[in-house]
Amino acid sequence: MKLVIFGATGATGQCLVELALAQGHDVTAFARNPLALTEHEHLSIVRGDMFRPASVEAAVANQDAVLCAIGGHDRLRVALSKQPRQKALCTVGTSNILDAMKQYSLSRLICLSAWGGWGEQRAIPFLLQAYHPSLADERGV
Ligand SMILES: NC(=O)c1ccc[n+]([C@@H]2O[C@H](COP(=O)([O-])OP(=O)(O)OC[C@H]3O[C@@H](n4cnc5c(N)ncnc54)[C@H](OP(=O)(O)O)[C@@H]3O)[C@@H](O)[C@H]2O)c1
Repeated sequence: MKLVIFGATGATGQCLVELALAQGHDVTAFARNPLALTEHEHLSIVRGDMFRPASVEAAVANQDAVLCAIGGHDRLRVALSKQPRQKALCTVGTSNILDAMKQYSLSRLICLSAWGGWGEQRAIPFLLQAYHPSLADERGV
């Protein structure tokens, strides 16, 4: 199959890329920094950003399925990286993926979240909400 993987340079995404290539799939990795990926004959790289719909659309074109493991907005990690937190990364990023999938009549999506995509905010323990406000964003997935 032809797979596009969003978040391909992350902890989960790198495992997905490795496993997909090992299983003989043609993989397109979507990355802000293509240099973070190791070359492979069945690996194509699309440079882009989840907040730029045109780059997301370019990666989704001509694929059979989409895997999404974007993230990195955990409060502790953001503090350590000294990068500004990306507000609503999962909500905006996943929405851009879905728009692109509709455009190419694609229906296969596997999307990793940190909490169930259902339910109410109150189902999330209070302390976890305080530590990880982005859970509200991830519920948008
Ligand atoms: N790891 C866990 O134990 C765990 C458990 C449960 C759920 N989750 C959830 O699973 C998801 C992935 O977790 P992870 O640990 O694999 O995360 P991660 O290592 O931080 O990787 C996040 C990925 O998202 C990419 N990304 C971030 N912002 C982007 C943007 N604006 N445009 C394009 N790509 C962007 C990162 O690219 P860069 O390399 O350019 O930063 C990276 O490839 C998260 O939503 C997380 O909450 C993780």
